[in-house]
Amino acid sequence: MDFESLIRVLAEEHRVMAAALARMEEAATEGDFDGIAETLRELDSVFRQHIADEESQILRLLIEELGVRGAEAEIKVFQQHRPIYKLMQLISELAPKSAPDLKADQRLLNDLFLEHTSLEEQGVFPKALRAYRDLQREGGSKPA
Ligand SMILES: [Fe+2]
Ligand SMILES: [Fe+2]
Repeated sequence: MDFESLIRVLAEEHRVMAAALARMEEAATEGDFDGIAETLRELDSVFRQHIADEESQILRLLIEELGVRGAEAEIKVFQQHRPIYKLMQLISELAPKSAPDLKADQRLLNDLFLEHTSLEEQGVFPKALRAYRDLQREGGSKPA
């Protein structure tokens, strides 16, 4: 997949994961703990592949092109991957033990996820695309 397609796919995956989070919240409201577990399993595999792609391709390109200091803000955004993943794990442990905690953690997860994906779509992805196009113009090596 070329880099521009990768960025489109990643943005599309944000929609898919946001929809799964909304379904999970709905399942929690209905006390449907099997539904929560099932949605989390779906999310888990999409999210893991997603962050692996972001870190191995986008982050690598930004660091190659701009250096660690030049990519400082983007590195910070990608550091949200771990807390997001931890929240998902926490939710899977809480369900069905504690409904109020579950709701609170779901809200945290939703907020963090939305903040994260909008930072990527408004900031990280456009910057990575610019870096990629600069590289292409310079005739530099194309990321895998
Ligand atoms: Fe991300
Ligand atoms: Fe992302």
